[in-house]
Amino acid sequence: MSSVVVMGTQWGDEGKGKIVDHLAEQAQVVVRYQGGNNAGHTVVVKGIESKLNLLPSGILYPGKTCIIGNGVVIDPGHLLKEIKAMLAKGVDMSGLKISNRAQVILPYHRLLDEADEDARGESKIGTTKRGIGPCYVDKNARVGIRIVDLMDREEFAGRLKVNLAAKNELLTKIYGKQPMDYDAVLAEYLGYADELRPYVADTIFTLHDAINNGDRILYEGAQATMLDLDFGTYPYVTSSHPIAGGVCVGAGVGPKAIDKVIGVVKAYTTRVGEGPFVTELHEETGEMIRQRGHEFGTTTGRPRRTGWLDTVVVKYACMLSQIDCLAITRLDILDTLPSLKICTGYIYQGKPLHEYPASLKVLAQVEPVYEELPGWQTDTTAIRRYEELPLNARRYVERLSECAGARLGIVSVGPDREQTIVLEPMF
Ligand code: IMP
Repeated sequence: MSSVVVMGTQWGDEGKGKIVDHLAEQAQVVVRYQGGNNAGHTVVVKGIESKLNLLPSGILYPGKTCIIGNGVVIDPGHLLKEIKAMLAKGVDMSGLKISNRAQVILPYHRLLDEADEDARGESKIGTTKRGIGPCYVDKNARVGIRIVDLMDREEFAGRLKVNLAAKNELLTKIYGKQPMDYDAVLAEYLGYADELRPYVADTIFTLHDAINNGDRILYEGAQATMLDLDFGTYPYVTSSHPIAGGVCVGAGVGPKAIDKVIGVVKAYTTRVGEGPFVTELHEETGEMIRQRGHEFGTTTGRPRRTGWLDTVVVKYACMLSQIDCLAITRLDILDTLPSLKICTGYIYQGKPLHEYPASLKVLAQVEPVYEELPGWQTDTTAIRRYEELPLNARRYVERLSECAGARLGIVSVGPDREQTIVLEPMF
């Protein structure tokens, strides 16, 4: 195996950063293929926490090539802050490569994200307000500005002039906001361009050279299946493709370049933002999970909605991305519960549903079918071998694997690199 995708199976925040960090040790190249600084990865190394939004999690290992692919939307100011924070910690940044085809987030994207959310009122999406959606809109409308354009002063100045004029019309006439000043944005972004220049590359060729060289490649998904623009709970989704198929267009490789897909599953369910959530818990247990799991957004600090594990969602994710094995995270958060529920099916209008509903109206009306499993009420955080997990904990993860139709690959019992039980080689 030389090429592995790690992606989320639920609504994000599954703990992909830790799994990617774990696998990055064995990879030579780590690639982000979609999303932007709406993502938030917390990686803990020897008790020291690092929060990453745009940088691939592999950056914490020296000597790796870390690619921010063409499918990513980049807020240059934010990326530079992350780079500088890493440099201040003594992290080697020489392996960072930023795709010259990636799209640039501009201040008007952030303003439009916020204005659009406000205008939606009750039906707001609950975005991170980082300008992600509006930036992908411009990409698809073919007026986006790419990193390659930002690197060319004249090209950037010209494109910015045209775009800003159009966005100012929108901001002032539709949303009643102040217009943005061209000279200020130009000066700010030309400054970023100079600082980012050393990292910019045609990463498609960097990546294919590595593939031809037989290097181990790790593709790191951000967000997750249920936030996928096509397959998630639309419109309560993000504007990119976190599924494994997103790797092809977001990094510039064919489907045959992917050898293995690992689906990261949190041992329970959370989501931030709006949208239906079949297994949501509104009472004590939900609050207990939120507190024990510190379920507050890495990017926005918002409290996450919590619920029982929904294997209908995980099975759907496994189907869409042909997931080979599961990495189950945060099992330890459930250590204290006397019993747990797992959702194994949906009932709609008295009948079992065999498909994941596209209609949110239907989804809002489905009833979860629960199985109740006994808890293990044992601290699992120091366990390092699968056989040493309490029997009830093994039954819980094995039932999940059975319902999802994918093997167990990893079980994580804490945030640290060491707190990882590996059941099969990942590369
Ligand atoms: P956007 O990606 O900022 O446009 O937000 C769209 C939806 O995706 C909102 O519900 C966000 O809360 C959600 N979202 C975006 N990024 C993440 C993430 O990394 N984890 C969890 N939810 C996310």
